[in-house]
Amino acid sequence: MSPRAPGGSATSAAVRWRRLVRARRAEMERLCPGGGALGAPYWDSRARRFAARTAGSATGDPLLSRLRRVARSSTTVLDVGAGPGRFALALAPRVAAVVAVDASPVMGSLLRRAARREGLTNVTTVTGRWEELDVAPVDLGLCSYVLPLVEDAATFLAKLDAASLGDAFVYLSALSADVFSDPFWRHFHGRPRQPGPTYLDAVAVLAELGIGADVEVVEVRVRTRYSTVAAAAKAYRESLLLADTAEVRRELRSLLSRWLVADGDALRPPLRTTPAAIIHWSTRRGGPARSLPPPNR
Ligand SMILES: C[S@@+](CC[C@H](N)C(=O)[O-])C[C@H]1O[C@@H](n2cnc3c(N)ncnc32)[C@H](O)[C@@H]1O
Repeated sequence: MSPRAPGGSATSAAVRWRRLVRARRAEMERLCPGGGALGAPYWDSRARRFAARTAGSATGDPLLSRLRRVARSSTTVLDVGAGPGRFALALAPRVAAVVAVDASPVMGSLLRRAARREGLTNVTTVTGRWEELDVAPVDLGLCSYVLPLVEDAATFLAKLDAASLGDAFVYLSALSADVFSDPFWRHFHGRPRQPGPTYLDAVAVLAELGIGADVEVVEVRVRTRYSTVAAAAKAYRESLLLADTAEVRRELRSLLSRWLVADGDALRPPLRTTPAAIIHWSTRRGGPARSLPPPNR
């Protein structure tokens, strides 16, 4: 049942999703002007670091095992928000073709370069926002760690559904995106962070679209490593939207040196795994037409 808004009218899951994303962005903007802009320039500037952090990380990831159970050598795959391509590149050797869509041109060029290096000739990239693109349907659609960034989840998911002729998968954290930073956020900002939407909100939006999805919660290895406490403090300062002052750096270094644990030559957060949700549905072509919920903004 949809939650009741003051005055008695029901708030749709799609509207609730949009409000959560907007409130979180507005908080980011308030704390750091420009900090709420998470479009292509944001990902362009982080693409190389992100690629280095995620390279090879699909190996052993529960989503890859799940996708491999469904994918055949004749399967065509669409990866929406593919980034530098950890899933697109890992699937390509086993399937007929992969189309990797991403809003960030730098992510796309890193993916193409990696595909060339690996001798993969069946991967194509498309640059643009998924909501605005026209891409031919495939057998298997996938979208990993993108949805909570998107305001209009209903349109985004309806498009993914329409583009997936067999199965569709959405992957996202099953904990708050702030799992590692929440105590630090509260310490520095004196209150909790605006929460983002969760995988349960995503399932509710799908239900409004007439899509019954199954959900599997899996544990994913935490790969975050820092070479020094100072490097960790820099990363946390950025994600916590804190000013770059000597006092903040000192305070963060002091807190992190007590929280991070040694792992060989590196430091890591004291969690070895975190839960993620694999949301899956089989697309039912020929069934009743699905429609978007009314634009109850
Ligand atoms: C956190 S990364 C995830 C990358 C990859 N799917 C993975 O799991 O490693 C999010 C990616 O989604 C892309 N993205 C965000 N919003 C998008 C949109 N509306 N359309 C297409 N790509 C989008 C970003 O450019 C970025 O590369």
